[in-house]
Amino acid sequence: MRLILLGPPGAGKGTQAQRLVDAYGIVQLSTGDMLRAAVAAGTVIGQQAKAVMEAGDLVSDDILVAMISERVNEDDCGRGFILDGFPRTLAQAEALEGMLAEKSLSLDAVIEMKVDDGLLIGRITGRYTCANCGVGYHDENLPPKVAGICDNCGRTDFTRRSDDNVAAVTTRLRAYHEQTAPLLPFYREKGSLKSVDGMADIDEVTRQIQSVLKMG
Ligand code: AP5
Ligand code: MG
Repeated sequence: MRLILLGPPGAGKGTQAQRLVDAYGIVQLSTGDMLRAAVAAGTVIGQQAKAVMEAGDLVSDDILVAMISERVNEDDCGRGFILDGFPRTLAQAEALEGMLAEKSLSLDAVIEMKVDDGLLIGRITGRYTCANCGVGYHDENLPPKVAGICDNCGRTDFTRRSDDNVAAVTTRLRAYHEQTAPLLPFYREKGSLKSVDGMADIDEVTRQIQSVLKMG
């Protein structure tokens, strides 16, 4: 199965992708995670991407297209993949069409996760993760059972993304509306766009995605 999760920052792409990995045994390809790993490792791409990401702008199409076209050729993508955060521009969407056509593959679905902008800022600025095991929390919606201690591993160090502040989120939302939202009519015309209510609770969003996938 090959899917795209399409939605604004904080829509729940990463949250749902992890559940689909477990349910369908396919891999999650998060371009945001790949870029953050490159920044942490100090690679050339990471050095180019760091300031752009911190400001909330999009990293160049060339870098992203090269990154994904290499990644989809790896063995673990053979059973399928969930694209989380890619494509984000029409140029990336067209490059993806080319990559898939070359391998005679197609997309099963493009799932739009609809969430109002007003909700997203609170979701993102409250988000943090355990620095040791990576489990995610939220200041109001999902605090650890014992304050300051990770439920999963018991450690006490937490981290926040450097682009999870109000200024960067505002720029990320603008980038979504200006550069990524045009992908909605692009995929609607191809007949592959399905929409789910990203404002429902997390389990309900998972149910909606699974039902959309069953309908084919
Ligand atoms: P990326 O890492 O993709 O960030 P993003 O799109 O801004 O999205 P997020 O990861 O913030 O949100 P999400 O939708 O995954 O939501 P999550 O599940 O975490 O990209 C970061 C940057 O990298 C970009 O700004 C850009 O610079 C660069 N980049 C990446 N890809 C690129 C590309 N293709 N081209 C160019 N540049 C690129 O959920 C958010 C919070 O809400 C969590 O706390 C979660 O617990 C909570 N939550 C989730 N679902 C629900 C729910 N249903 N109800 C209540 N709370 C919920
Ligand atoms: Mg994410």
